[in-house]
Amino acid sequence: MPLFYQQDINESTRLGIWKIEEPEQFFLDIVPLQRSITHPHKRLQHLAGRFLLKHLFDDFPYREIQIASTRKPFLPDEQYHFSISHCGDYAAAIVSKNERVGIDIEIPTEKVFRILHKFLHKEELMQFQLASSQVVLLDEQLGDFELEDADPAFPTLLWSIKESIFKWWGWGEVDFSDAMRLSYFEAQEQGALSAMFIKNEIEIPLTVQYHRWENLILTWTATAPDVIKRVD
Ligand SMILES: CC(C)(COP(=O)(O)OP(=O)(O)OC[C@H]1O[C@@H](n2cnc3c(N)ncnc32)[C@H](O)[C@@H]1OP(=O)(O)O)[C@@H](O)C(=O)NCCC(=O)NCCS
Repeated sequence: MPLFYQQDINESTRLGIWKIEEPEQFFLDIVPLQRSITHPHKRLQHLAGRFLLKHLFDDFPYREIQIASTRKPFLPDEQYHFSISHCGDYAAAIVSKNERVGIDIEIPTEKVFRILHKFLHKEELMQFQLASSQVVLLDEQLGDFELEDADPAFPTLLWSIKESIFKWWGWGEVDFSDAMRLSYFEAQEQGALSAMFIKNEIEIPLTVQYHRWENLILTWTATAPDVIKRVD
């Protein structure tokens, strides 16, 4: 059973990572496929993400899942809050009885350098000392650059943190560089950092947790469910 990782954060919030090694039927025996997904691997990722929901809380009501216009899946009665992510052969999910949650999983690749200047604010580029490396040359030399010494792990962690915040927010249409601002932190194998989500001039402080493995990054955040109402 390739449960790669599970963390029971507290009595009401749990997260897990599944390493997908099973054929599709393994998941279909448990998970109802609610929409058609043509690409076989994307279908497998989707099924593994849904599978984790019930693995974490065995009374998770699959058939009540609805999809918002932003594509965020949710339960109308909020019996559980949940968030799902997948990348390569991994699926991750976080499920909570009482917290609004967002999760993201990433395999670091050099592609992150192409979007660095889009998702990080100029101050963040400076803060994380990415502005002084060759990475910032991308602004002028997009698509034609040398990254021999650049390790994508740290910028991918920053990207993943903002993706988790995006999932937590759930309403789409957020400017990653302006609406999400990260405080300086020195990345360890696992830890937490402070972030600020800024919308309609209201600032919501968040704590984003992360856990890194050799070639895999997991990030997640959780808050009281009603903090979002203040910015709607
Ligand atoms: C929606 C988005 C988060 C999905 O990302 P992805 O690359 O497909 O990655 P993941 O595998 O991590 O996430 C997919 C899951 O997110 C969930 N999801 C989709 N839209 C969501 C939303 N608006 N809010 C919360 N969760 C969402 C779904 O559960 C989906 O999985 P499922 O369809 O199997 O249930 C991403 O595509 C996106 O739009 N990011 C923002 C892009 C952006 O604005 N960038 C600007 C800065 S450069």
